[in-house]
Amino acid sequence: MIDDITRISDAAPALVLAATTIDQLRGVESDLLGKRGSLTELKKGLGALDADGRREVGAALNVARASIEQVIETRRLELESVERAATIAAERLDLTEITTSRPRGTTHLVTQTWDRLVDVFVGMGFTVAEGPEVETDWYNFEALNIPAAHPARGMWDTLYVDLGDPETVLLRTHTSPVQIRVMTETPPPIYAVMPGRVYRRDTADATHMPVFHQIEGLVIDRAISFADMAGTLESFTSAYFGGSIHSRLRPSYFPFTEPSAEYDINCVFCEGKGCRTCSQTGWLELGGCGMVHPNVLRNVGLDGEEWTGFAFGFGLDRLALMRHGVDDIREMYTGDLRFLEQFPS
Ligand code: PHE
Repeated sequence: MIDDITRISDAAPALVLAATTIDQLRGVESDLLGKRGSLTELKKGLGALDADGRREVGAALNVARASIEQVIETRRLELESVERAATIAAERLDLTEITTSRPRGTTHLVTQTWDRLVDVFVGMGFTVAEGPEVETDWYNFEALNIPAAHPARGMWDTLYVDLGDPETVLLRTHTSPVQIRVMTETPPPIYAVMPGRVYRRDTADATHMPVFHQIEGLVIDRAISFADMAGTLESFTSAYFGGSIHSRLRPSYFPFTEPSAEYDINCVFCEGKGCRTCSQTGWLELGGCGMVHPNVLRNVGLDGEEWTGFAFGFGLDRLALMRHGVDDIREMYTGDLRFLEQFPS
C-alpha cells in the first residue's frame, strides 16, 4: 500500500500541472482526493490492516494528501491570476481616446466674460454674491429709494409676474437688488461684485435685449469717497480692456446713488477719434455708478454717519462686445456658430 501511495503522490504534480483551467484542476482534485479519488480508495483498505500497519499507512496517507493539496493550491492561485488577467484584458475600455471628427463645444462668450470679470474683481479684493432673478418690489425698487408711482420707475421697463398682489413680484430689472440683499445679510466692510441676468420689457435692437446681464459692484466702508470709486473703476478698466482704454465719469441721476454718474470708456472702435458706434463722441457708455444714497443705507439699517460707499452696475454683454469690438448685442443671443466659434474658451 505504501508503494501505491508513493506512486500516486509522485504522479500528482504532473497531473496537476497539466490542468490549464480552474475547471480542469477541479477534475484532477476530485480524481485524487475526492470521495472516489485514488487516495480515498486506498484509505478504505486501512480496515484490513493491524494496528501498526494502520498507523504507518494512515500517516503516509496524511502526508501524501497534504502534499497533493499543497500542489493543487499553488496551481489554483496561478490559474486564477491568469484568468483574472484575461478578464481584465477582455473588458478593457480605452477612455483616453479623443475623436477629432466630432466638434466639441466651448463656454459661451457671456460665460467667458462673467468668469473674466469675476477674476478681475477678485484680484482687486472683491467677493462675489448672487441673488434671485424673480424679485419683490421691495428689493428691486422700494429699498433702492424708488417708491411706488415715483417717476424714476419709468427708467425700468418692468416685467411683472402674476404672483401675489398685482405688481409686487417681478423679473428683476437690474442687479441692484442684490446690493440690498448683501447689505442686509453681511455687516460692513463690504467689497462685493454681483453678476447676473436681468429682464426688461424692451424690443431687441443693436443695443438692447429684453434679457441681458449686468455686473453690480458695492463697496461699503468707513470714509469711502467719490475719488475711491473713480480710482477703482479706472483700475478695473485697464485690467479688463488693457492699458490704452481709459474711463470717465459723467454726471447723471439714479435714485439709489447721490451723486450719480455714467461710466464711459474710450471708444474701442475708433480709439477716441469719433465714429458711428460712439455717435462721434469718442466715448462708449457702459453703465451707471455713484455714492450709495443715505436713504438706501437707512433702509438696510446702516448708520450713514459711520458707513459710506459706492455702487456701480455695468452691462456685462456690452463689456464683452466692446472688448471684442462687436457692435450688435443681438449677435450674443442668436446662437450662430460662425459668431460663437470666434471665441474659443
Ligand atoms: N441699476 C442701474 C441700472 O440698471 C445701474 C446702477 C447701479 C447705477 C449701481 C448706479 C449704481 O441702470
